[in-house]
Amino acid sequence: MRANHYSVHEPLWIFGYGSLIWRADFPYLESRLAAIDGYARRFWQGSTDHRGVPGAPGRVVTLVDAPGERCWGRAYRLDPDQGAAVLAQLDHREKNGYERLRLATLLDCGQRLHAVTYRAATSNPHYLGPASLQCIAAQIAAAHGPSGSNREYLLELQAALAGSGHLDEHVEALARLVMALPVA
Ligand code: SIN
Repeated sequence: MRANHYSVHEPLWIFGYGSLIWRADFPYLESRLAAIDGYARRFWQGSTDHRGVPGAPGRVVTLVDAPGERCWGRAYRLDPDQGAAVLAQLDHREKNGYERLRLATLLDCGQRLHAVTYRAATSNPHYLGPASLQCIAAQIAAAHGPSGSNREYLLELQAALAGSGHLDEHVEALARLVMALPVA
């Protein structure tokens, strides 16, 4: 589902669960820890434009359906005057297989709202899907792309989640494995 139409009267929020947590390179008015229910973060999306290259993709996170689970991330409130420009910027940044969704989001202050998030559908051409943690870690440890190493992506995400107090076991396990591997 593309969510292209927003009321100018409603504040526009973005929910980030991957690099958008630790590298929000867009203007916003406010950011808060936030969560979405029914999803889990997984390193199942291939990256050939940021953390890998065609033929040697990196692995970045997407959201998978996970009834009963809660995925923590960060929500950003945009200036209504800048909303369209920020969405266009994010559409470009997330163009390697992600699509916009509008999901029910819980802010850490208890407020509930809907936020735009970017999820990689399983049907996109760069989707890699599940693999053993060891295989995912080996791929991350080896991959580099125009935005930097895949290792940096994982470890920045791990540090941001740890700093927020909302550890993610999938991310923690991968970070432990990758830190034990040589820097490529
Ligand atoms: C996100 O951060 O919310 C989307 C995935 C990414 O850009 O890492």
